[in-house]
Amino acid sequence: MHENKESMLDLRPVLITGGAGFIGTNLADRLLRSGKSVILFDNLSRTGVHHNLHWLMERHSRRLVGILEDVRDATALYEQVGKASAVGVGQSMYEIERYTSVNNLGTAILLQCLLDHPVNRLVAASSMSIYGEGLYRNAEGAWVQGIERNEMQLQQCEWELKDEQGRRLEPAPTRESKLPTLASVYALSKYDQERLCLMIGQAYGIPTVALRLFNVYGTRQSLSNPYTGVLAIFAARYLNQHPPFIYEDGLQQRDFVSVHDVARAFRLALESDRAAGQALNIGSGRSLCIKGVALQMGRLLNQEHLTPQITGKYRRGDIRHCFGDIEKARHVLGYRPSIVFEEGLKELSDWLSRQGAIDRLDEATAPLSSRGLTR
Ligand SMILES: NC(=O)c1ccc[n+]([C@@H]2O[C@H](COP(=O)([O-])OP(=O)(O)OC[C@H]3O[C@@H](n4cnc5c(N)ncnc54)[C@H](O)[C@@H]3O)[C@@H](O)[C@H]2O)c1
Repeated sequence: MHENKESMLDLRPVLITGGAGFIGTNLADRLLRSGKSVILFDNLSRTGVHHNLHWLMERHSRRLVGILEDVRDATALYEQVGKASAVGVGQSMYEIERYTSVNNLGTAILLQCLLDHPVNRLVAASSMSIYGEGLYRNAEGAWVQGIERNEMQLQQCEWELKDEQGRRLEPAPTRESKLPTLASVYALSKYDQERLCLMIGQAYGIPTVALRLFNVYGTRQSLSNPYTGVLAIFAARYLNQHPPFIYEDGLQQRDFVSVHDVARAFRLALESDRAAGQALNIGSGRSLCIKGVALQMGRLLNQEHLTPQITGKYRRGDIRHCFGDIEKARHVLGYRPSIVFEEGLKELSDWLSRQGAIDRLDEATAPLSSRGLTR
């Protein structure tokens, strides 16, 4: 960690929007432990996040200020931005209107405030979801992108991607140069957020970095929210004596990155002079299949008798494989993930055993199936 660099940074606090959420809380804790001051801006709209705020307040009441407002409240935000040295953008929400409003309009309002109160740095929490399907190689070893599975293929349970000759494509680590495939309202709003931050940052000389986060997991992840990461969903199932519910055949590959590594990446991005203007993948450097992850979690929670339910069902718009190539972040930020999955999952499982999680899987799947989005 560049402690000497830290002292060179402005002594004003770091403002984190969506700061009481999973990633915001872990980032705030890291910054506060290193001596920075933090302003958390959050309307506590996500169920359960007030616990995060209490947890942080108990640990660091002196240098932490919590502002419980909506990010679209320009007056409240304007006042806080004026006090900040750097800003992390991290709110997210569900439903078309709300997503677009919170992510796009919320970011636009924040950037508008920055024009009057320029900060030293801006770091945006972007997402791997903007890639859609990850990058692939064909039988000749050439890169392939922009291919998707069609409905007929999925109905026949042909889960893997194929080239025009019907030959299976091999998934490869996805680089930042892969063109986005924006397949959901969320992905579209995250891309808009990322581009808007980089564009305004460049135009107004605010060094800005967008971190494309892969599947983040760790303590303080919401367990009662049916739309959050797959690990939290599996955990809520196990803790309620239900087996995890797995789409397709469970062999889809993802990149699970510890929230500690993500918080470290944010801090590096807040300090780095070389990263300005760039979008960087932040993953673990490793890919894992969903079924293997579910089995591992079952063992750690002593629930191995609950065999994961491999359903053969699929969700429209789901991707098969996506995991990150993190070379650029290594090179530009000096980012090196330090938490191996087994270690991170152990920490998560220990924390989970002390939590009460509400299993809301049915609540999450019902609206999808009623709109014909699952088969
Ligand atoms: N968790 C992941 O795996 C992941 C992966 C890629 C990108 N991201 C991005 O990282 C960021 C943080 O994600 P997270 O997992 O911590 O989410 P989270 O849902 O735990 O936290 C989001 C926080 O934003 C707050 N919020 C929502 N709407 C708000 C509004 N209008 N005004 C003020 N606060 C508001 C919520 O109360 C919550 O505390 C998001 O931008 C998300 O898109 C997360």
